[in-house]
Amino acid sequence: MATNRTFTMIKPDAVEDGHIGAILEKITSSGFKIAALKLTQMTVADAQEFYAVHSERPFYGELVEFMSRGPIVAAVLEKDNAVADFRTLIGATNPAEAADGTIRKLFAKSVGENAVHGSDSDENAAIEAAFHFAGREMF
Ligand code: TYD
Repeated sequence: MATNRTFTMIKPDAVEDGHIGAILEKITSSGFKIAALKLTQMTVADAQEFYAVHSERPFYGELVEFMSRGPIVAAVLEKDNAVADFRTLIGATNPAEAADGTIRKLFAKSVGENAVHGSDSDENAAIEAAFHFAGREMF
């Protein structure tokens, strides 16, 4: 995958609260193009694997339970400097610390239920996109 791509999920909390459309509008109006998109649900095993890097952290169990409890929107996004610019657009992990206008400031409830995921590196963006999408689903 080229380095102008990142991977995102609209998490179960934001899907449950009906924010899919508003979040996608915020993403596309901020200059990101959608290269892949689907509504899907992670199994417990999927969430454990996706977040394996956090398996020793105290919040891992809750994170896995939360991320597998309902549908998510998975997407691959394209823009120059996509990974860093998308992290700026979503804001700090804890919405109480997120800047005004960021997606987490607008839609997240807590550090655990924080509305959106954004890859933290080009390498992880490629791994995470491949976790959710077949090659023929990415454009
Ligand atoms: P992390 O990769 O640190 O944050 P980010 O999503 O901003 O890259 O953590 C991954 C997810 O783990 C985070 O989005 C929510 C959850 N999490 C908690 O539930 N509690 C915590 O204290 C932290 C740091 C993260």
